[in-house]
Formats: sequence, structure tokens, C-alpha cells
Amino acid sequence: MEKLTSLAKRRGFIFQSSEIYGGIGGFWDYGPLGVELKRNLKEAWWRDMVSGHDDLATLPGAPSPYAMTGLDCSIVMHPQVWKVSGHYDLFHDLLVDCRTEGCKARFRADHIPTSQCPLKPSRHPGEHDKCDLTEPREFSLMFKTNVGALFDPSSEAYLRPETAQGIFVNFKNVLDTTRVKIPFGIAQIGKSFRNEITPRNYTFRSREFEQMEIEFFCHPANSQQWYTYWRDRRFAWYTSLGLRSENLRLRNHDANELSHYSCGTADIEYAFPFLLAGEFGELEGVAHRGDFDLRSHMEGKLVRAGDDFTLELDQQGQPRYVGSGKELSYFDDQRQERIVPHVIEPSAGADRATLAFLCEAYTEDAIEDSQGKPQPRVVLKLHPRLAPFKVAVFPLVKREGMPKIAQDIYRELKRHWNVFYDETGSVGRRYRRQDESGTPFCITVDSQTLENQTVTLRDRDTTIQERVASKDLVALIQEKLTA
Ligand code: GAP
Repeated sequence: MEKLTSLAKRRGFIFQSSEIYGGIGGFWDYGPLGVELKRNLKEAWWRDMVSGHDDLATLPGAPSPYAMTGLDCSIVMHPQVWKVSGHYDLFHDLLVDCRTEGCKARFRADHIPTSQCPLKPSRHPGEHDKCDLTEPREFSLMFKTNVGALFDPSSEAYLRPETAQGIFVNFKNVLDTTRVKIPFGIAQIGKSFRNEITPRNYTFRSREFEQMEIEFFCHPANSQQWYTYWRDRRFAWYTSLGLRSENLRLRNHDANELSHYSCGTADIEYAFPFLLAGEFGELEGVAHRGDFDLRSHMEGKLVRAGDDFTLELDQQGQPRYVGSGKELSYFDDQRQERIVPHVIEPSAGADRATLAFLCEAYTEDAIEDSQGKPQPRVVLKLHPRLAPFKVAVFPLVKREGMPKIAQDIYRELKRHWNVFYDETGSVGRRYRRQDESGTPFCITVDSQTLENQTVTLRDRDTTIQERVASKDLVALIQEKLTA
């Protein structure tokens, strides 16, 4: 991780937020390369899950064709949303403090078995004779804010802890404006905020992060099939972009770990390098949310009752939090029945996925220098779809008209992709910089270019250079990127 974080800083992928003031725990900034990488990741997700999804085809293993559509909802929503959704009451972590002078550490109660005592790292918190831990206390993960000029309880609102609720409260708007029929999915990419007790492991657990969520609405009779479908499809998405399957696993939640809304969840987990060998960290959760959310937003806050949910009542027998009272059911004209659709939710973190792809891509190998001696190098073997720049263009030297030819090639390629131009330093150094940035191809204009309009095209992973005609570059690179 140290090597990766130092590369990410050196090359401008990820910076600590407000670094010149000493940083702020749990907040991160993406630098010039990081912003491209994360944008490419989000665009790949949107393309593969939403806009590029073939909604006319019948999919193998799926009961019928389905449509995918999108939303972009506000971060601050009506506070009743979070009361009814259960987040206001239940979105807590249990926190434990150590009272010992010189320690004063804070832990999430469920992390204690895997945490180290700061005074004696070979022990877990509570195991050292100096440990003096408090009883676990509830700590709300939602960031509070005030809306408008009055700073009193009536103006309190929250930064959303998940993007999902924006989708549920717009369910009827989408139905009314798009004429989609179940099964269909609504996708959203956006920021979420959680006041994590112990943000850690770089960007893995942050207080501000981006989610890529799909709420997939289907008939209850088919929901189990759709759950399996989405779980497998989302797993395959990560491998299609370069995560090796031996570094990934699917893990079903035990009944006691399920979120308050879930009737079944499988996590897609990755073997992040900050974990111990054999351990995995959550990349994405695929949850079966049943009809919990749509019913809550109609009726009021629900609680689990066996396999179902029922309205939670206060001591006077009134609903604890009332819903909107709006009709969020659906008339299934094929089956001629009114239902509350069930929801399958693949919920991914854009920051965790970015981190996983960076970890997977980080490679140390050796390549031969001009004297044939092996030289160590660091290379980011990012999938071309994710790579911040697809191509870099260099003139070998800054004379004999080479920069002009290289700039013309650069301008031409830039019409198609994100391309980098560099004419400073030795060409070997320029290659190394692009290797560390994950650029799949480098083009060099040299003296032969002046004679026959050919350039060298170097492959990042093999470092093999081929001589190609400048006029064929666009088609050739297109072919290689697609391959
Ligand atoms: N709507 C369901 C939901 O939010 P979650 O498992 O709490 O489910 C989904 O979050 C994904 O969001 C996680 O798998 C993870 O990738 C990302 N995520 C959650 N908390 C995060 C945090 N503190 N920092 C970075 N990513 C986080």
C-alpha cells in the first residue's frame, strides 16, 4: 500500500484533502490523473449498466427483457425520507473509547477483534492490562446540516448516506414520465456522506464518497432470479475490467449482518493489499430489499416481522414515522394485478472500485535498457477503458521538425481520445512516466518519420515497439483499444 499511495501522490492520482492545512480525516481529492481514472470508471459503469445495455434482447437466465434508466437526485432531501427509511433510527455504529492517558483511541465496536491496541499492537483493544474501554455507545453516521436561515431543530436536514433513497422517492415520477414496465432498473451515480468513526485504509473508508447504485424493480415472484442475475453480472463486470477472479469473492451475509431493509445480501469483495492474507474487503453489496422502501415511503417506517415488514408503532399505537401517503404501487397489466414491486440493489462504491483497480494494476517488473541490462520499472497495467490517457505522443528530439509532426499527430488523436504530449527529458524517462500513469500506448516521432512518415508505437505491458504509418494510427489504436 505504501508503494501504491506514494505513486498515487507522485503521479497525481489521489491527494489528501486540504493537505496544506494538515489534511482532514476521511476526505480525499482526486488529482489530474485520478479524476480521469474515476470518470472512466463511472462512465464504464453507466455505459455497461445503463446507456449501452441492450433492452430489446432477452437475457440468458433472466425472465424477460428489461429497461434501464437513470436519475441524478439532490444530496439534501426532505428529513422525513431518512426517518421513514430507517436511517435516522438505525444508521448507527457502536463506538468504544479507551480512557487510558496516552492512548485515548476510538474504535468501532465490531472492529475490535481485528484492531490493534495502540499501546501494545500485538494485542487487540481491551487485552492489554492498561486498557480501559468504555461501554459501546451509539453514534449516528449521518452528517447533519441546517436548511435556511434558522438554526433550530425545525431546519435540520442530513447529507444523504446512500443515493438509493432519491431513486425510491422518484419511483412514481419515473413511471409516469418514461412508461417503463417492470422489470426495470433506475441507476444513479453520486456523492454520499457518512461520518465514519474510524475512516481508514486510504480511500477505502471515507466520510465523503461516491456510489454507483441501481434499484431494480421486479415482480416479487421473479425477485430471487433477478437477485442471482445481478449478483453474477456485477461480479463479471469487475473481471471484465481487469480484476483477477482469484482476488475477488462473493460472500453471502449471515442473517445477523443484514441491513434493516435487506432480505438477503451478497457482497463482492476484493483482496485489498492493506488486509491480511486471506482477508477480503467489500467492494459492492448486492441486496434484495424486498418491498421495504416503496412500502415505507407509502405507509411509514417499517420494521421486520419474521419474513415480512410491518408498520412500526409508537407507545400510543400511532405510526412512529408517517410515510408520504402517495401511491407507489404498480399495476402489472400482464398479470392484471396491483403489486408493490420488489427491489434488487447492486450498490457499488466508485472510490473503492477505483482503489481496487489501482491495486490490481500496480506492477513491478524489469525491462531491458539500451545496453540490454534489466532495469526495474513500475507500471500501472490499467484496462485501456480505465486508463487516464490512452496514448502519449513524443518527438524524439526538439529539433529537425519533429515537435511539429508530433503535435499534428497529437491534435489528430485528441479528437478521439484523451492523449498526452511530452517533449521534455530523455525518451526512456518519458516512457517510464507513462508506464507509471498507466498509458497503454506511446508514439514516438524520430528521424525515420522524416523520411517515410512512420512512427514507433510502443505497448505499455510488453514494451514492444512496432513501426507503423502515421496515417494508420487512429484505426490501429482503435483496434487495439477495442481488443
Ligand atoms: N444503498 C445501499 C448501501 O449504501 P452499503 O453497503 O452501505 O449499501 C454500498 O454501501 C457501497 O458503497 C459499499 O459496497 C462501498 O463500495 C461503498 N461505501 C460504503 N461506505 C463507504 C465509505 N465509508 N467509504 C467509501 N465507500 C463506501
